[in-house]
Amino acid sequence: MLVDEAPCQHPGMADDAEPKMNPATIAAQALGWIDETTRAVSPPIHPSSTFIRDADNQYRSGRSYSRADNPTYDQAEAVLAALEQGAAAALFSSGMAAATAVFLALKPGDHVLAPKAIYWLLRSWLLNFATNWGLKVTFVDMTDIAAVKAALRPGETKLIWTETPANPTWDITDLAAVAAIAHAAGARLAVDSTVATPVFTRPLELGADIVMHSATKYLNGHSDLIGGALVTRVADEPWSQIKQLRVQLGGVPGAFEAWLLLRGMRTLFPRVRTAAASAQIIAEHFSGHALVSHVLYPGLKDFPGHAVAARQMTGGFGGMLSIRVKAGDAAAIATAANVRIWKRATSIGGVESLIEHRASVEGPLSPCPGDLLRLSVGVEETSDLIDDLDAALNAARG
Ligand SMILES: Cc1ncc(COP(=O)(O)O)c(C=O)c1O
Repeated sequence: MLVDEAPCQHPGMADDAEPKMNPATIAAQALGWIDETTRAVSPPIHPSSTFIRDADNQYRSGRSYSRADNPTYDQAEAVLAALEQGAAAALFSSGMAAATAVFLALKPGDHVLAPKAIYWLLRSWLLNFATNWGLKVTFVDMTDIAAVKAALRPGETKLIWTETPANPTWDITDLAAVAAIAHAAGARLAVDSTVATPVFTRPLELGADIVMHSATKYLNGHSDLIGGALVTRVADEPWSQIKQLRVQLGGVPGAFEAWLLLRGMRTLFPRVRTAAASAQIIAEHFSGHALVSHVLYPGLKDFPGHAVAARQMTGGFGGMLSIRVKAGDAAAIATAANVRIWKRATSIGGVESLIEHRASVEGPLSPCPGDLLRLSVGVEETSDLIDDLDAALNAARG
């Protein structure tokens, strides 16, 4: 069997998934899987890059070479597929490797819609590489269903890509509504659900075809790996194209990263629930604060996307929020300079809280205001985070 024909195996997962488990239990027990050889509760790592061919020239194990697949991926992919209620999942070397595989599985000349509020590097890739390669890309306000409908080109639009809540303003896309209009026009819907996580939103249940995660963020949760993942509603032709691209472009994670990701996902629910509860309290504290002009958080009742978020996010609104500093851009940068407990670093979704002046990162095409600070809330004591940010805002006032 050739490398790129090798099937992905998930041995024993269905049997081991009994009895029926709630999502938090699936994550904590990694589907309850036990290593049959050693009876180990934590699975082994398989660093091997290659696998033995049978004497009669076959590859009955289904494994040939780790650019195609590695047994260490099995359990993490099975857990993620179960959490997202999908038919299959695939791990990638990064969130960008996962996201770009979805677009590269299209054909030059295809039209795609993408949100104006989107992870900045994906916007840049769409505007540069993808456009040069031949994709036609239209950026649209995904919170405006009429605008999405108007931007669709039936027969030509093959994909709607959205991100919800979306960096760094946390715009909310109504996934059920966008899925319906995508499908009516013969397009598919792919959702970057990195911020929502399967704890709060399951886009496939709402009609999406593909879910993408930067596994670097909440899925792993400890700021110690770069990884990505896709989950598909059905294992159809576009999915097999994406799997082929993973083999051909080689955007696969190392075995250790796949193992770390599975370990991180075991605590996904308590980490994300703690962060979201804390983010809600922090958002409420800084709403109406004398030094803050806006708090952007889907859990606030006056946030424009709150009603849709309340419908499609179950149990919380996520751990990400942004504040806009009343005194302007320089005061925002000075606030970030003055924190002691928040860590001044890029990325999101770790157990430690991060603060970042996003306009410094995103460039001129970003809708990000210059006075905005992005806050990734971790699992520390909420009052420590509030006191630290309060003190930093006051110190920035001079
Ligand atoms: C929402 C979102 N999507 C995608 C990515 C890209 O993921 P990665 O850094 O794992 O390539 C990021 C990274 O910050 C992100 O925040």
